[in-house]
Amino acid sequence: MSDGTGPRPDAGLAVQTEGLGKTFGRQRAVADLDLAVPQGSVYGFLGPNGSGKTTTIRMLLGLTSATSGTIRVLGGAMPDQARDVLPRVGALVEGPAFYPFLSGRANLVRLDSGDRRAPASTRRARVDAALDRVGLGHAADKKAHAYSLGMKQRLGIANALLMPRDLLVLDEPSNGLDPQGTREVRALIRSLADDGTTVLVSSHLLAEVEQMCSHIGVMSAGRLLTQGTLDDLRALGTHRVRVLTPDPDLARGVLARLGLVPDGSGSPALPASPDAPDAPAAPAAPAATGSAGAVRVEADLGVEGLAPETVVAALVAADVRVRGFEVAGASLEDRFVDLTGEGFDVAG
Ligand SMILES: Nc1ncnc2c1ncn2[C@@H]1O[C@H](COP(=O)(O)OP(=O)(O)OP(=O)(O)O)[C@@H](O)[C@H]1O
Ligand SMILES: [Mg+2]
Repeated sequence: MSDGTGPRPDAGLAVQTEGLGKTFGRQRAVADLDLAVPQGSVYGFLGPNGSGKTTTIRMLLGLTSATSGTIRVLGGAMPDQARDVLPRVGALVEGPAFYPFLSGRANLVRLDSGDRRAPASTRRARVDAALDRVGLGHAADKKAHAYSLGMKQRLGIANALLMPRDLLVLDEPSNGLDPQGTREVRALIRSLADDGTTVLVSSHLLAEVEQMCSHIGVMSAGRLLTQGTLDDLRALGTHRVRVLTPDPDLARGVLARLGLVPDGSGSPALPASPDAPDAPAAPAAPAATGSAGAVRVEADLGVEGLAPETVVAALVAADVRVRGFEVAGASLEDRFVDLTGEGFDVAG
């Protein structure tokens, strides 16, 4: 993986891979991955358990070798230029090992001492600042073995923050944190990004990624299904129309003629309100009974995007009594279910 064989360096990208792959024996953990993490972004690396996030991150950091493909981190080819690249990268990967009988502070002092670029004269101040930044100031003198999982996770993040970094790579930083801790980590990541640090953060929680990331890459079974800005991904979603009507069969017939739903006959009504957060995102499914004898019928407008007014006009022309009409963007979660064929945890 010499400089000449790497992807053409793109100054706008903090992380860039081409055809990156990793196999363990016969198992393909990561395949053909072209990652593009823009400078200054907070890039959410999203995927369910076992989709290859940690393996990818370990390859980016030179912690494990790639089976195929090329990597650039902050413009340098990895792992060849690791010595120049890694000091500019702060990382949290699967909980660093801490000495259990040293305090949090003493652990960081020790880790910082191992960084030959870290000036000893400012060590104490940098350690304390990092502990404060992750909310561990009050527990700095507690021994690491007495830290909760969440506290250990914060100590790991503090370790990544000991020196100013151009890139932070955080593998599931919210692991083991309670909701309050999760919020704090989110706020911390956003504040780091405001300071100009690029952040690559993995997660299996869509809601978390949605709240802190500008960009997103979705992994499933070792492959990157899509990447781009969060806004791009939202815009990709098709829109849905919801019609509230006492004439659901008639309405379904019209929608079917417009090519929006399969012919209504035989399609079961959903038992729950379609607005319930756990309602399955069934495309083009007829929906539940609404108030006053009216029934809600839903349909996807399709990627081509049939105009909503066309739908209303067709319904009215067919004497469907339209009591309510709504156009809604598919949620990001709908998009992910479409992409991965599986749901993500949405709870924090
Ligand atoms: N050292 C290893 N030896 C063999 N297989 C491995 C090894 N590390 C990872 N794998 C396999 O590679 C696949 C991807 O694992 P990886 O840890 O990268 O997923 P992940 O997206 O980080 O999952 P999680 O959300 O659970 O952390 C999994 O099927 C896993 O079993
Ligand atoms: Mg992982």
